Amino acid sequence: MMEMTVIGLGYLGLTHAACMASLGHTVIGLDHDLTRIGAIASGQQWLYEPGLHDLVEKQMSNGKLRISNNYHDAATTAHLHFLAVGTPADENGRTDLIAIQQALTQLVPLLRGSHVIVGKSTVPAGTCAQLQQLIRSLQHADAQIELVWNPEFLREGNAIADTLHPERIVVGLQQGSSLQAFFEQLYAPMLAEGVPLIVTDWATAELSKVAANAFLALKLSFINAVSDMCGQHDADIGDVAQILGLDSRIGSQYLRAGLGYGGGCLPKDVQGFIAAARDAQIESVPALFNAVTAINETRITNALDDALRLVPTPAGAKIAVLGCAFKPNSDDIRHSPALALARGLSQHAVDVHVYDPKAGAHVRASVPEVTVQETLVACVEDAQLVIIATEWDEFVKLDPIWLQQVVAKKKVLDLRNCLDLRQWQAAGWEYRGIARGHVSV
Ligand SMILES: NC(=O)c1ccc[n+]([C@@H]2O[C@H](COP(=O)([O-])OP(=O)(O)OC[C@H]3O[C@@H](n4cnc5c(N)ncnc54)[C@H](O)[C@@H]3O)[C@@H](O)[C@H]2O)c1
Repeated sequence: MMEMTVIGLGYLGLTHAACMASLGHTVIGLDHDLTRIGAIASGQQWLYEPGLHDLVEKQMSNGKLRISNNYHDAATTAHLHFLAVGTPADENGRTDLIAIQQALTQLVPLLRGSHVIVGKSTVPAGTCAQLQQLIRSLQHADAQIELVWNPEFLREGNAIADTLHPERIVVGLQQGSSLQAFFEQLYAPMLAEGVPLIVTDWATAELSKVAANAFLALKLSFINAVSDMCGQHDADIGDVAQILGLDSRIGSQYLRAGLGYGGGCLPKDVQGFIAAARDAQIESVPALFNAVTAINETRITNALDDALRLVPTPAGAKIAVLGCAFKPNSDDIRHSPALALARGLSQHAVDVHVYDPKAGAHVRASVPEVTVQETLVACVEDAQLVIIATEWDEFVKLDPIWLQQVVAKKKVLDLRNCLDLRQWQAAGWEYRGIARGHVSV
C-alpha cells in the first residue's frame, strides 16, 4: 500500500481520494479552498455524488483519508501526488492551466528525493511538455520528479464505480520512463478484473481524454440533429436511436435526443479542443466542433420556443422547471442546459420556479432570477406548464393523475423524452416531447 496526495477535491479529486483510500492506500486530500476543506473535514456533504459522502466519511474515520490544505504536509508525507484541480476554459475557449501551474508552484519546491506527479485533470496535448519545464525550474537539487498523465474518464453520477472499475486506464509516460510496473502495482485491483492498461506517451494520453469527450459531444449533437429531421417528418427519434444503437459500430450510449450536453467537462473540453486546433492552424477540428457546439446551443432556443408556444402569454405566467443539474444523480449546475432554459424563460418575464432534488442550493446562490423551491409540489403548484429539464427518477415516475390536481394547466414539455407518453396522454395532458413521432407536433 502507498501513501499519496490528491490535490484538488472537486468531483474528480474527492472521488479519487476516497476510492484510493478504500483500496487501502493512505491518502491526503488537499485543496486550497478553506471553506471546502472545512466542510469536508467536518463531515458536511460538499458536493453530491451517489455514495461519495458515506465513502469519504468512512475513509476519514478509519484514518485512511485525511483532509488538508497544507502542501508541506503533502510534500513530506507522500511520494505520489495526483493533480485533480480544475481546468476551465478561459475567455477565448482555451483550457486554462493556471490551477495546475499554481498547484505545482506550491508543491514542487517542497519536494526532496523521488516523487511521481500524476496529472488526472483534462488538459490539451502538449501540456505535460510545458509543465515539465515548470517543474524543472521549480525543483530542488535534491529532488527527482517524474511527471505522468493519467486522464480520468469517470462520469458524474457514477463516479465511484467508474473510478474503481474503469473501462480502461491510460498512463502517459515520459520517454524512457520505467514507471510502467509502478502503475501496474497501483492499479492492480482494476487490472485483475481485466481492465485494459494502455501505457503510452504524454501527448497521446492527453489527447485521448479530450478526444473522448469531444466524441461524446459529437454523438449528442448528432442525435439532436437527427431529431430535428424526425420532427419534420413525424418520425420517432427514440426508435431511430434504438435502431442506430443496435449497430455495434455505433453503440447505444449518448444517443438520446434532449436538451443537449452541459456540465463541467464536455462544453469546456470541446471549446479547448477547438482552441488548441485553431492555435495549431488545424481547420478540421473547428469545422466539425463549431457545428457540434452550435447544434447544442440551438437545443435551448428550440426548447424556449416550444415552451412559449405552450404558454402564449408568458409574462407573469408560472412555469415549473423540474431539474436544474446538468444531469440526474448530480448536483453539478456548471453549463447546465436546464438552467440556461430557466434563465431564458425569465427573460420573457415568466415567473420561473425550479426544483431539483440536489442542486437547489447551488441555483439559489447563483441564479437569483428564478425561484428555487424546496419541494416538487411547491414548484408545480398552479403552474401553467411543467417542464422536465433533467431526468431525475423522481420526475420520470411522476403520476400525471396526481399532478393534474396541483397544476393550473395540464401541459408538459418533456425535454428528456423520459415520460411515459401513453400514460400522460391517457390522463389528458397536452404533451410535447422531442420528435416522439406524430405525438410531438
Ligand atoms: N467532474 C468530472 O466528471 C470529471 C471527469 C473526468 C475528468 N475531469 C477533469 O478533472 C478536473 C477537475 O474537475 P472537477 O469537476 O473535479 O473540478 P472542480 O472544480 O469540482 O474541482 C477542482 C478543485 O481543485 C481545487 N483547486 C484549484 N486550484 C488548486 C490549488 N492550487 N491547490 C489545491 N486545490 C486547488 C478547487 O478548490 C476545487 O476543489 C478537470 O480537469 C476536469 O476536466 C472531471
